[in-house]
Amino acid sequence: MSPTTVDIVPFLSEKSRLWKSCGIRGLFPLEDIPGMISLLAGAPNPSTFPFESITMKLKPTLAGMPAPTGDDDHFNVTLECDELDEALQYGMTAGVTRFVEWLEAFQTHVHKRGPDGTWSVTVGAGSQDLMYKACEALIDVGDYVLVETPVYAGTLGFLAALPGSLVEVNGDSQGLNPAHLESILANWEMAHPGKPFPKLLYTIPSGSNPTGASIPEERKIEVLKLATKYNFLVLEDDAYAFLYYGPEGQQARSYFALEPEVNGELGRVVRFDSFSKVLSSGMRLGYMTAPPRLAAAVNMITSNTNLQPPTLTQIMAYTVLAQWGPDGFLAHCAEVAAVYRARRDTFERVARKHLTGLAEWTTPVAGMFLYIKLLVHPDGREADSAELVSGRAVAKGVLAVPGTAFMPLGGKTPFVRVSFSLIEEDRAEEACRRLREVLLEARAEAEAAPRET
Ligand SMILES: Cc1ncc(COP(=O)(O)O)c(C=O)c1O
Repeated sequence: MSPTTVDIVPFLSEKSRLWKSCGIRGLFPLEDIPGMISLLAGAPNPSTFPFESITMKLKPTLAGMPAPTGDDDHFNVTLECDELDEALQYGMTAGVTRFVEWLEAFQTHVHKRGPDGTWSVTVGAGSQDLMYKACEALIDVGDYVLVETPVYAGTLGFLAALPGSLVEVNGDSQGLNPAHLESILANWEMAHPGKPFPKLLYTIPSGSNPTGASIPEERKIEVLKLATKYNFLVLEDDAYAFLYYGPEGQQARSYFALEPEVNGELGRVVRFDSFSKVLSSGMRLGYMTAPPRLAAAVNMITSNTNLQPPTLTQIMAYTVLAQWGPDGFLAHCAEVAAVYRARRDTFERVARKHLTGLAEWTTPVAGMFLYIKLLVHPDGREADSAELVSGRAVAKGVLAVPGTAFMPLGGKTPFVRVSFSLIEEDRAEEACRRLREVLLEARAEAEAAPRET
């Protein structure tokens, strides 16, 4: 049986229909008609730009890359002449065409989904740019949005400014919990009489920010089945997908890869990838893989706001990626992931030394975070990390993010997010030692305080 394609149109927000094609950018595609003389864009003349060439010199060869074209151990690329003019100029709203095509081929390579017209790639100024615009194009007043909890505080920042009510779906050490999702949906009509069912689910499947959890494939399958049963979209924010350092061959396939085989559907998953963790966060490049009609709605917003993602960094990224090829890029990502695995090991070693009995956490297999539960009350009651982390820990000279920052509806939590991406061993050791002092003091006070009834 051939898969059915989910109709995305009913999911689009009223507001998405208000954005109109910009009178200039809307005509850009006509410039490609052979023989056309374009007097269209108010583009600056690149001969006036002060840059003559830009040379990128890559670090010594990483595994999987082709032989270097520069000197012995380095790989140099110079952008100049027409290519530099293009890189410094305005470009297409959805991204530089050859970069978009490379990314589409890469998605096919990684997720085993050929170009069948049900998805396309759009480049953004970071994945968050695209997530915000996709939510803007989907969420109406009165809509409900399911949010994996706890969740990346950056997403909560823009969701707070959009219409729609957030519904927390609990996560645990295995990521999003499908049993909780199911109980919310099965009881929806009773809990929310007369209200529409949720329109979408936002989730971070790999090395989640903040929990570090990665959801196994079996859970993803359950989530996808629920998505079909209750007719909601799955927004898969996979910013840490390429920072997987767990057992080889055991990384779960993406929601995007799984959706055709789970319920024979295409177009229910909207996927967000980021180059921030594997090429550069300052280049501001991410990409969305989405049904073309949603991509068009996002592009419409871009063409009226920031116009396009940066051409220069797209061409820099494309030049390197085209040299590496998909497997070379994946080999690079594996090397990056190995760096984070080593940092995780180091951080965990010192954390165990100083915090055993005072805190607990689950070892992540991807990403750059430990989500640490503070054990303050000897009787097992849960502490509120906010005061401890924002007050006492700061006073002792250690900074981390209290778990409440990641709760869509606020509330107390005993967790704190620690990032091990940058910290060297001696500093990590000192941070854990200070955290230990904070916890020992809090514990002593808790033991001395009369028990609340
Ligand atoms: C889960 C998650 N999604 C998205 C982003 C933003 O990524 P980008 O830099 O591609 O906008 C981050 C950044 O930390 C993140 O942790």
